[in-house]
Parts: sequence; structure tokens; C-alpha cells
Amino acid sequence: MEGPNVGLTWSPFLTPSLDVSSLFVIDSSTHYEVVRKITEGGMGIVYEAEQKGTEGFVKRVAIKVIRQRFAEQRLFLQNFIGEAKLVADLIHTNIVQTYHLGEARGVYFIAMELINGVNLEQFANQLMTKGRLLSAELAVFITSRIVRGLAYAHTKHDSKGRPLGLVHRDVSFKNVMVAFEGDVKLTDFGIAKAKGFLTDQEGEVVAGKPDYMSPEQADFRVTDERSDLFSVGVVLAHLLLGRNVFKGVTTDESINRVLEMPIPDFRTLHSKIDDRLNGILQKALARDVERRYQKAGKLLYDLEHYIYHGGYGPTNETLGAFIRELFGQGDFSQSDATRGGTVAMECKP
Ligand SMILES: Nc1ncnc2c1ncn2[C@@H]1O[C@H](COP(=O)(O)OP(=O)(O)O)[C@@H](O)[C@H]1O
Ligand SMILES: [Mg+2]
Repeated sequence: MEGPNVGLTWSPFLTPSLDVSSLFVIDSSTHYEVVRKITEGGMGIVYEAEQKGTEGFVKRVAIKVIRQRFAEQRLFLQNFIGEAKLVADLIHTNIVQTYHLGEARGVYFIAMELINGVNLEQFANQLMTKGRLLSAELAVFITSRIVRGLAYAHTKHDSKGRPLGLVHRDVSFKNVMVAFEGDVKLTDFGIAKAKGFLTDQEGEVVAGKPDYMSPEQADFRVTDERSDLFSVGVVLAHLLLGRNVFKGVTTDESINRVLEMPIPDFRTLHSKIDDRLNGILQKALARDVERRYQKAGKLLYDLEHYIYHGGYGPTNETLGAFIRELFGQGDFSQSDATRGGTVAMECKP
């Protein structure tokens, strides 16, 4: 087989491919240096890291290291890897991009796009601390960007044109980030399904938090893309009201509310919620899946029409300006407090 005709000198790193569909193979290992712990999530620890290239090339990435006790569960690991492979090609401005699924000495990790910003929980807490309220327009704008990401993922096909049938299953405040530039990004695509296979010490499946779950999900019934649209309704209501009406004191109470609580007339809960917005919320939060929004695209249309029908509406720039002002620009970096020694991580290509 001939070498690549790209002006490169043939070297041991470039080897002829055995796979008929590829031209040649570049055999190089990726080296990450972990510089800061961002946070400890339920499933793993999220770090900021530097991906090192040649001649001092450095790219900042986020790395999620899966907890060892989870990685040891075969069913979970199989599903986790399977889902990671499915979402590898999700490339959309409103979805945190997965760069790499790696394994180093039995430790599994995902390298992904690093978001310089906050999740919606931190955002809402800061609003509360500062005694500020989010305008209906910005709440709808944030929600509409989440739905853009979902609309893309829900309709994604594989290379042979078959629908992937992707459902996020964990659209919630913690899984939505707002970058200080004003971009809204959905995280953890494909992870919730694998989470459903996690078992505790007694071998029982660890159920997720029901606060943003659809009724069919809370009831362990089959879910499809419409389940995500219910969760979007919960996120929108939470952004508008500053509290989640489905959250109970206990998990059981939350499940009960998701399954049974009459969906409120949101106009009576806050004056900024008008007829149209209440209509969107009622349709997203319909317990009967047949009466709910059927497609993310339709919900997206209604949300965008709500904010833009009068002409100018919110943009990434207006959201960015709002969040930078809310956090005091540059204030939010924890880098100095938590930046410790670096941990080198070498992984199999
Ligand atoms: N790509 C990223 N860039 C920056 N911060 C991130 C990134 N992914 C996750 N985070 C932060 O880590 C938090 C927890 O991550 P997450 O993966 O959602 O944990 P969990 O395992 O609990 O689901 C997020 O809410 C967000 O604040
Ligand atoms: Mg998460």
C-alpha cells in the first residue's frame, strides 16, 4: 500500500491501514494534564485538563473520570461505552461535545469540550443570592437553546441513514450549562441511560432523581423523545418561577408530584407568565404523551415565536452580558483556590 500523499515523511507512526475504508493510521497517544478539579458529580469527578500536542500545542478540555466502583459494574460499563459511541458524532452548538472516551490503567474517562460558565443550578442560586429575577424572555431563550440541541439529537441518523433514537433522559438544571459568552450547552448526553444500570451494594438499581423526570420515566415505562420535552417543561417552569414545583422533600414525594399533582395554571403563580407561555407549559407538561409536544422542533418553534414575534428578542450576546454581570466578570474562576499539582494522564489511543 502506498503512503499518504500529504507531504509527510513516512514514519513508524503512519502505518498502512488494514481496514479497507481508511487511508492510513496515525498512531500517537494522547497526553492530558489535569490542572483543576471542577466538581464532583454523582457519576464521576469533572476536571479541567490540558491536552498536550506537539511543539507546545495545548488545548483546554474537561475530563470526567468515572468512579471506580461504577466502572467495575459490567452492565453499567457496557452501556456507558455503548452510549458514548452513539453520541460521539453529536456536533451541535447547544450540546457539550464529546472528544474522546479513554481508559488508562482501568480508569475510564471522557474528554469533552470545556465550558467556561455555570450550570443552571449555580445560575439560579446566584440569582437568588443577588435577589434578582430572570425575565420571561431570557428564561424562554435559555430553554429554546436546550430544545435546539434536543431537536438535533432526536433526529440524528447513523451513517446508513437509520435513526439513532437518541433520548437524553436527564434534562435537568445540573445538566444545562450557560457559558459566560452566553452559549447554552446540554451536558451528559447518553449518560442517563447507562446510569439506569447502576446498582447499589444490595444489587438494587440506583434510581435517578425524579425532580425533572417525565411521568412515564418516573413510572419505569418506556420513554421516547417526548419524555425529554416534559423535562424541558419542568426546566422552563423552574426558570420562570425560581423554584421547581415538582420537587418534594423526599424522592417519593417528588415522584408523587410528577405522577399525580394537578399541573398548575402558571398564570396564577407569576404575573410574568401570560396566556401563551402558560399554553406552552401546559402542552410540554401534558402527562398524556399523545397530548404533549410530539417533536422538539414544534416546541422550539413555539418558544422562538414567543420571544421573537415582536421583532428583536434575546440573543447569546444579551444572555452573556446578563450572566457576566450577575457573576461579576472573571469573578467565578476557582482556578487559584483549587489548582494543585498536576496529574499526568497517559491513555491508550
Ligand atoms: N464540559 C464541562 N465543562 C465544564 N464544566 C462541566 C462540564 N461538564 C460538567 N461540568 C460541571 O460538572 C457538573 C457535574 O457534571 P455532571 O457530568 O453533570 O455530573 P453528574 O455525574 O452528577 O451528572 C456540571 O453540573 C457542571 O457544573
Ligand atoms: Mg450530569
